[in-house]
Amino acid sequence: ARTVTVRTLANMKRAGEKIAMLTAYDYPTAKLLSEAGVHVLLVGDSLGMVVQGQPTTVPVTLDQMVYHASLVSRGAEGAMVVADLPFLTYQVSAEEAMRSAGRLMQEGGVHGVKLEGGREIAQTVRRLVDAGIPVMGHIGLTPQSVHAFGGFAVQGKTADRALEMMEDAVALEEAGAFSIVLEAVPAEVAAEITRRLTIPTIGIGAGPHCDGQVLVFHDFIGYTSGYIPKHNKRYADLASVIRDAARQYIEEVSQGVFPGEEQTVHLQDAELRLFQS
Ligand code: KIV
Ligand code: NA
Repeated sequence: ARTVTVRTLANMKRAGEKIAMLTAYDYPTAKLLSEAGVHVLLVGDSLGMVVQGQPTTVPVTLDQMVYHASLVSRGAEGAMVVADLPFLTYQVSAEEAMRSAGRLMQEGGVHGVKLEGGREIAQTVRRLVDAGIPVMGHIGLTPQSVHAFGGFAVQGKTADRALEMMEDAVALEEAGAFSIVLEAVPAEVAAEITRRLTIPTIGIGAGPHCDGQVLVFHDFIGYTSGYIPKHNKRYADLASVIRDAARQYIEEVSQGVFPGEEQTVHLQDAELRLFQS
């Protein structure tokens, strides 16, 4: 079967083939998405928001990431699996970053890790890469810094900030990252970073010129009832499917229509007579 690796992704960029990445947080989703041919499954710390119902990704722990990574790894058939290093599990020291990444790979079974930040994190990226850990960068709107930004706003909207973002991207590539996520950055900035880098860029709210795209699974499939970011496109309306199914189930239970004959098991006549006698 087709197996996606860091080399596959590098070759895809060279060939001009776009990379399709989606987040996944559990086994059945990983199985379905990888069977459909999604190249990379990201166990994103967005699970804090879409699975746990928290307001940001900041409360997500390494133990939780390891747990979800293990579920996704078990279902990913041929897709590359990358997991986020959660807030403050990689900034304190390169040693701590390596132990955190090690847990995601050994216990979580992932093929690479993603961390947020640019030049300030490049040394750590180098240490991880030197230890044989594939690293995906993430710049632009880095949600773990939401409290420092003062909200989830598009980044790099001035020429100065766009140039800094370019420097961050180049530093991550030089540090050995195999790919970089660009989140919520103007399309022109993402296009220029994509042209400049040899490694593939994966955009989310970063326009059409990135080497690949990523969406958050729950937003993508319409399995969310709260705030949906502007960059999202709903490819299905799972919320309606679930709501309608639940209403029909309630109706059938209350009417005595469910369970019907098809869902029911009976005693054989002889056993029934013995049972009733
Ligand atoms: O956690 C996540 O889902 C992410 C993607 C939005 C890139 O980091
Ligand atoms: Na994330």
